Amino acid sequence: MIIQAIRWKRAEDERLSVLKNGAIARVVVGKRSIVFVRVDGVLRALLDICPHQGRSFEGGWCDEGYIVCPFHRMHFDPVTGENKFGATSKVQVFPVEERESAVYVGIPYSTISLFGRKLW
Ligand code: FES
Repeated sequence: MIIQAIRWKRAEDERLSVLKNGAIARVVVGKRSIVFVRVDGVLRALLDICPHQGRSFEGGWCDEGYIVCPFHRMHFDPVTGENKFGATSKVQVFPVEERESAVYVGIPYSTISLFGRKLW
């Protein structure tokens, strides 16, 4: 049985706690580049890899709650990761917790267990 679980990783960037609505910031969390955006007061996190051609969202922006990739201007929902117009694959999104001490991102990992025993 494959179990999907998450590990909370601290995002070491002071910009996140003061990020304004519609603003985006790219931060390396663990070994992943993550794009943060605040929409309606809620901080969201997406993998910094556009599913269209695998490019970074660097230079992108937020338009009416969607992250816009600067290369071909596809719009992605930061909640679901879906393309606004239904084309291409979804961008990976992560849960975010704004704790008193810092911002944390839930990074998924898979583990395999058999009858309750963790194999790895
Ligand atoms: S590479 Fe992002 S929209 Fe094409």
